[in-house]
Amino acid sequence: MPTKNNKRMNQINKEIESILRGLVGRRVQEMKEGESTKDDLLGLLLDSNTRHVDEHGESQLGMTIEDVIEECKLFYFAGMETTSVLLTWTMIVLSMHPEWQDRAREEIMGLFGKDKPEYEGLNRLKTVTMILYEVLRLYPPAITFSRKTYKEMKIGGVTYPAGVMIELPVMFIHHDPDIWGSDVHEFNPERFANGVSKASKNPGAFLPFGWGPRICIGQNFALIETKMAISMIIQHFEFELAPSYTHVPHTVITMHPMHGAQIKLRVI
Ligand code: HEM
Repeated sequence: MPTKNNKRMNQINKEIESILRGLVGRRVQEMKEGESTKDDLLGLLLDSNTRHVDEHGESQLGMTIEDVIEECKLFYFAGMETTSVLLTWTMIVLSMHPEWQDRAREEIMGLFGKDKPEYEGLNRLKTVTMILYEVLRLYPPAITFSRKTYKEMKIGGVTYPAGVMIELPVMFIHHDPDIWGSDVHEFNPERFANGVSKASKNPGAFLPFGWGPRICIGQNFALIETKMAISMIIQHFEFELAPSYTHVPHTVITMHPMHGAQIKLRVI
């Protein structure tokens, strides 16, 4: 329907597509002229696509430019907002629990001091990993994901016909006291001290990145990116919630704080 909102959405979609089309087109041209580097995702995608077409012939066309544009959109939208809300919730929760902020700072300063965090060190952050897992449990950026049955199938004793949408309520699973125990609603990173599989009664109950063949392709990247960001913030600032902060988790595609995250930072 040509409502005001729909028209605006269409316009934004067109703008994004035209930016991406220009970007992809320029890169394809550069590759043809032998100029392009392959050290980013778009380069890798186009390079693998060209090889596929070269090996299998034009009839076995790999991805179209439209497909490439869709992949760019997916990576941007799946990767940006999710990771930024994880970082936001982590700062909120560490403001609410200064004892965990101190523990994280002790670990980060022990590994890096005030130096820029490096990859090896980021992989050795145990307390910070426990904190991020607990934030992802309490505030999963994607609160649900869905599957569609492509044929008749039996799941949990129920037979579903083809074409049924099944919704997996990550949020409810992450907040189920039968799985996580009576402290399910509390922030307790200690539950992840012995890894994800020992954190609950059901080793498959931690699902912030989904599960199975379509599990999030960017999960390691997201965790490293968040560890890098939170380490750099914690190295240089102490933080606490501002009096105006109101705790209202709210979902618009991803779960974020409805009224923003007002946080007071103090340089250290
Ligand atoms: C905290 C950050 C993130 C969270 C919580 C998250 C969560 C998820 C979830 C729940 C899915 C759906 C899995 C399913 O349907 O089974 C997914 C898929 C996906 N994610 Fe992430 N994601 C995050 C970061 C990223 C980043 C940084 C990237 C890219 C660099 C990314 C790229 C993707 C892609 C491409 C898919 C689709 C995979 C497929 O269908 O095969 N995500 N993510």
